[in-house]
Amino acid sequence: MPSPMTAAQLSALYDAGNQWAEDDDFFLAFVNRRPNRRVLDLGCGTGRMTLAVAADGHAVIGIDPNPDSIAAAGRKPGAESVTWINGTSAAIPHDAMFDVAIMTAHVAQAINDDGDWSRTLADIHRALVPGGSLVFDSRDPAARAWEHWTPAETRRVHTLPDGSMVESWMESTVETDGLVALTEHRMLNGSTEETEISVLAFRGEEQLRQDLERAGFTVDHLYGGWRGQDVGSGQGELIVIAHKPA
Ligand SMILES: C[S@@+](CC[C@H](N)C(=O)[O-])C[C@H]1O[C@@H](n2cnc3c(N)ncnc32)[C@H](O)[C@@H]1O
Repeated sequence: MPSPMTAAQLSALYDAGNQWAEDDDFFLAFVNRRPNRRVLDLGCGTGRMTLAVAADGHAVIGIDPNPDSIAAAGRKPGAESVTWINGTSAAIPHDAMFDVAIMTAHVAQAINDDGDWSRTLADIHRALVPGGSLVFDSRDPAARAWEHWTPAETRRVHTLPDGSMVESWMESTVETDGLVALTEHRMLNGSTEETEISVLAFRGEEQLRQDLERAGFTVDHLYGGWRGQDVGSGQGELIVIAHKPA
């Protein structure tokens, strides 16, 4: 059944539900440790972080496999200062080198296939300058976030910029091997319900460390929360700061 929501409405709904928060402060502060950096925002989505990084004077390439998200990002104020690419890490330009690569708002979990994940890390490693950093977040499986992805805990009503009203809620199913299927339900202006299923990978701390080391990274920090808490005592996050050895 075709989606009753347009691509622009879906992007607007994503933005309404994912506004600037302390995770964004963390990523932006990391990039801003030095001025004028070359930054890769992989899985940039609708560009919330990408545009903030560019506004702070860095040279940014934003890449995302969802063409509608890239189109929505490209329509926002300041978008002309970013290079937008529709694709995955395979689309990183071969002549581009970066000081920092970021994957914000759990992009790592959207890359649910282990082969794709390994290739993504290898592509980022290749595109970083020696000493360059990779920073990303992934939910800690020990915190079992999916247990809160229930209709009762996630039901929201958003009014979009075009005046339409969307009611949304989530459900989840635990699959095997650390995969969780997330079903997002949406109803536009009380019309027919539409659903979208995405599968998220929940990789634990040891798994992430192994994957990063295998790809040639050195892990500098692995935090459990946005204020640098230890794993297990933050907000149920695994926040990775790694670098490509010089
Ligand atoms: C939760 S959104 C995060 C978007 C954005 N980083 C943010 O902060 O709002 C996850 C994003 O990962 C993207 N994604 C999915 N598979 C990917 C892949 N293989 N490589 C890069 N990005 C991917 C999706 O298209 C989506 O935009």
